[in-house]
Amino acid sequence: MAKTIQHTVTIDVFDNFGELSQEDQELITKAKEASNEAYAPYSQFQVGAAVRLKSGKIIQGSNQENVAYPSGLCAERVAVYYANATYPKEEIESIAITAKTKNFEVDKPITPCGSCRQAIAEYEIKQQKPIRIIMMGESGSIHICNGLKMLLPFMFNEQELKKE
Ligand code: THU
Repeated sequence: MAKTIQHTVTIDVFDNFGELSQEDQELITKAKEASNEAYAPYSQFQVGAAVRLKSGKIIQGSNQENVAYPSGLCAERVAVYYANATYPKEEIESIAITAKTKNFEVDKPITPCGSCRQAIAEYEIKQQKPIRIIMMGESGSIHICNGLKMLLPFMFNEQELKKE
């Protein structure tokens, strides 16, 4: 009989923005600000991300679409790639993600897509410290995940490139 492997995901849910720490409130506000700069003429879905580095620096990113659709890039990768390209020695503490669209009210948290989870995982493994993921729509509750591994269980890792 096959054995079962289970993975438990823990997400902290906050119903009110005011319950968050000042730092997390600031990071979400910066992500919302970044969503204003999204270039999303095809989906109209404007995503904003803000990365907090250990030094306190905040890096913003927004989705950048392209008429050749797969050439576009999500907000989260724009932000983490810029962060690591500019401050490669600095640890990433957290990333806030949000979205808005003129078509409807985004009233639920936005979660990073699979490719963005993989990209964030790379930096979590590089720095060997969890990266907190703070997710929110335009309104509604806020979800916080204490480490990307929660969102990408059983991830491909570099051990698999080596023969033990
Ligand atoms: N998008 C992001 O920027 N981040 C995500 O995690 C999900 C999707 C962007 C990609 C595309 O420009 C638009 O949202 C609609 O999918």
